[in-house]
Amino acid sequence: MSQRPVRILTGITTSGTPHLGNYVGAIRPAIAASRAPNTDSFFFLADLHSLIKAQDPGRTQRSTLEIAATWLAAGLDPAKVWFYRQSDIPEITELTWFLTCVAGKGILNRAHAYKAAVDKNRADGEDDDAGVTAGLFMYPVLMAADILIFNADKVPVGRDQVQHIEMARDFGQRFNHVYGDYFTLPEAVVDDNVATLPGLDGRKMSKSYGNTIPLFVPPAELKKLVFSIVTDSRAPGEAKDTEGSALFQLYQAFASNEETTAFAQAFADGIGWGDAKQRLFDLVDREIAPLRERYLDLVSRPSDIEDTLRDGARRLREEYATPLLAQLREAVGLRDLSKVQLGAMEVESSVDKPTLATFKQYREADGKFYFKLVEGERVLLQSRAFDAPRDAGQAIAALKRGELAVADAPATLGDGVIEADVRAAIEALAAADAEKAAAKAQA
Ligand code: TRP
Repeated sequence: MSQRPVRILTGITTSGTPHLGNYVGAIRPAIAASRAPNTDSFFFLADLHSLIKAQDPGRTQRSTLEIAATWLAAGLDPAKVWFYRQSDIPEITELTWFLTCVAGKGILNRAHAYKAAVDKNRADGEDDDAGVTAGLFMYPVLMAADILIFNADKVPVGRDQVQHIEMARDFGQRFNHVYGDYFTLPEAVVDDNVATLPGLDGRKMSKSYGNTIPLFVPPAELKKLVFSIVTDSRAPGEAKDTEGSALFQLYQAFASNEETTAFAQAFADGIGWGDAKQRLFDLVDREIAPLRERYLDLVSRPSDIEDTLRDGARRLREEYATPLLAQLREAVGLRDLSKVQLGAMEVESSVDKPTLATFKQYREADGKFYFKLVEGERVLLQSRAFDAPRDAGQAIAALKRGELAVADAPATLGDGVIEADVRAAIEALAAADAEKAAAKAQA
C-alpha cells in the first residue's frame, strides 16, 4: 500500500483579531503538529467563508493580513507547510458547485449553524429563513470542497466543527459513488487536551464575552490587561487556591512543569495577587515578545505576505488543484466536444471506471471457510473462520442486501481501510448487480 505522508488540513476563518485563547488553543498546537514527521500540512485562510458574516471590505482585507501575519509570526514555515488563501484557488469554488449538485439539501437543513438560525427565527415568531443567506446555508459545501480538493486525511477542528467534517465525508462519498473514486474521506481530529483558556473574568476567553487578551498588544497594554484579571480578595500572606483560578490557568498555559509547580507552591505560601500577576505578565511576555516583534515586522511589509500567499496557491494549483479539476470535469461530463464520436454518439472517456470490489470465498489449510472483499490488490474486509461454506455465503448475501452492517459483520477491516470504504464498495457492487439483473430482465 502506498505510504504517502498523512495530510492534515485546517482552515482559519479570517475574522477578528487573534487573542491568547486562539494562540494557546489553536495556533500553537497546530504549528507544533505540523512539524511531526511524515505529515503534510495544509493551512489556509478561509476568506471566502469570512464573507458570510463580515461584509465590510476594508475589515476583511485587514483581518486577512493580520491573521496571515499572526500564523507566520507564530512560526509557521511556508517552505515546509502549504500556506495559502482560499480565494486564490478558484478550483475550490468550482468544486463547490460539483459538490452542491450531489449534496443532499436535507443534510444541509440539519447543519447546526443553519438550524440555530431557524430555531431563533421560530422563537422570535419570524419566517424560518428570515435573515438567513444562502451563503450560511451552503457553508458546509464550501468547507467540504476545501478539504476534499487536497484529499486531506485528517482535519483538526473544534468540537463545533465535527458535523461539518461528517458532511464533507458524505458529499465526498456521494460524488465517489456517482462518478468514481476521486476523494479521500476525511476524519475530524478533536484534541480534548488543548487548554481552553479562561478570559479576564474567568469565563472561557471569547470575543463574544469581551474578556479577551489580544495576542499582540503592546507590552504596557498586555500588563494592564493581566493586572485586570479577576481574583478573590485574599490578602498577601493568605494561602490561595489554584483550583478555579483564571490567573493560575493562564500561567500554566505558558509555563514548564517545574514553573507550574513552583507557582502552585507560591499560591500555597500566600503570594500577593500583585506579585502573582507580575509573574504571569513576565511569563506570557517572555513567549510572546519575539512573536510580537516578528508580527510587527511582517505587517509592515504586506506585499511580502501577499507574495507568500500567492506563491503557496500557485504551487498548489499546479501540483494538485488544476490537474484534479481537469479530471473531475471529465468525470462529470464537462468534456471536449471534439472527442465525441459522431458515428456511435459514444463519448470517449479517459476516465477509468473504478474497479468493482469482489467477494472471494475460500478454504484455508485449517479446514475452515472464509471470505474476503477485495478491490484489486487491496483487501477491504477479511472474515473470521466459518465451519460451513454456507455460513460464509449467507454473511456475504446479508452484507450485499444491507441487512448486515459492516460494523456487525464477523470480519475485520483490511489495513488502513475504514468502514465507509467497505460500505461504498458494497453499495457499488450491489448497484452493479442490480443493473445486471435489470439488463437481463429486459433481454
Ligand atoms: N469552519 C471552520 C471554522 O469556523 C473554518 C474552516 C473553513 C475550515 N474551511 C475549513 C476548517 C476546512 C477545517 C477545514 O473554524
